[in-house]
Amino acid sequence: MASENFNQLLNVFWLRPETALWRYLDIEAMRDFQFIGRSLDFGCGDGLFSFIRAGGEFDPLFDAFQKTANLDRFYEKVDVFDAYDDSYAPLVAKKPDYQITVGFDHKPNLLKKAAGLGLYAETVVGDGNEPLSFADNSFDTIFSNIVYWLNDPESVMAELCRILRPSGQLCLMLPNVTLPDYSFFNRLFVQTKDPAWSWLDELDRGRLSDNIKQAASDEQWREIFGSAGLKVRRHTNHLSKHIIQAWDIGFRPMFPAFLKAVEAIPDDRLADVKSEWVESLKRFAVPFAATEIHDNPTNAFHCYVLSK
Ligand SMILES: C[S@@+](CC[C@H](N)C(=O)[O-])C[C@H]1O[C@@H](n2cnc3c(N)ncnc32)[C@H](O)[C@@H]1O
Repeated sequence: MASENFNQLLNVFWLRPETALWRYLDIEAMRDFQFIGRSLDFGCGDGLFSFIRAGGEFDPLFDAFQKTANLDRFYEKVDVFDAYDDSYAPLVAKKPDYQITVGFDHKPNLLKKAAGLGLYAETVVGDGNEPLSFADNSFDTIFSNIVYWLNDPESVMAELCRILRPSGQLCLMLPNVTLPDYSFFNRLFVQTKDPAWSWLDELDRGRLSDNIKQAASDEQWREIFGSAGLKVRRHTNHLSKHIIQAWDIGFRPMFPAFLKAVEAIPDDRLADVKSEWVESLKRFAVPFAATEIHDNPTNAFHCYVLSK
């Protein structure tokens, strides 16, 4: 039996089940973290992850692919989800169990998608690489899964520490030093320069190659936390090697073609087709997720809860 979070993720990311798998294991890793008081989702994107994590549920027909753009440039590392118009309608079936005060991201289109979820009291557009527009000591809880996408994690953490209240908690997902070895693109092409594997660049689409720059051991992250004025309250490692390797390929190569195929399904057949698809996914995704090796130091990501 899948948890309701996982059911929701598989339904929303049905054409990209590897995303559902990763995000489900993120939810498990941050299980003990609670958004309380004045809270910030730093790099919330379209908000779907935090909505589902908060116990929100969608109508089965809703998915993450309602508004996409530039699908013809998918293999050129373009963010195809960075699109919005007024027809975007997240079909909320159950409201989330809690609200988050502020959703912050640098992409206005994603924030407009997030704003319709009833999860964030406010959305704020801003660049996480710049000094933040929030006052000192202004948040009780902060979550972020984007620090490793930014140019200088040290200065970002100093900023997050500045805006966190003395009694507050900060939850961060950060890549482990093992991650580079789990990327097919990095291990087979970047490290070997073997042209036979150059095509993996189209599969990587800049993901692991960018994040890998920030991959660091627990000791290295603790040093950065120390200089930002942050103390580690809890630390676990999640996303086992075999899970990351399955995610690294997933349904990604076929995504633009899958979307076109879905668009060609008549409206009165879509619910049936999707339901069968999601049930088939569950047969594999649920037992596969259960093979995650919990808190193994070689897992690909760290989950930290920090305070100042
Ligand atoms: C890995 S996604 C995480 C989204 C969401 N928090 C989640 O867990 O699903 C990375 C997010 O970081 C945002 N992002 C990347 N660079 C940023 C920047 N410089 N400033 C603010 N947000 C940024 C992207 O727009 C995207 O929404």
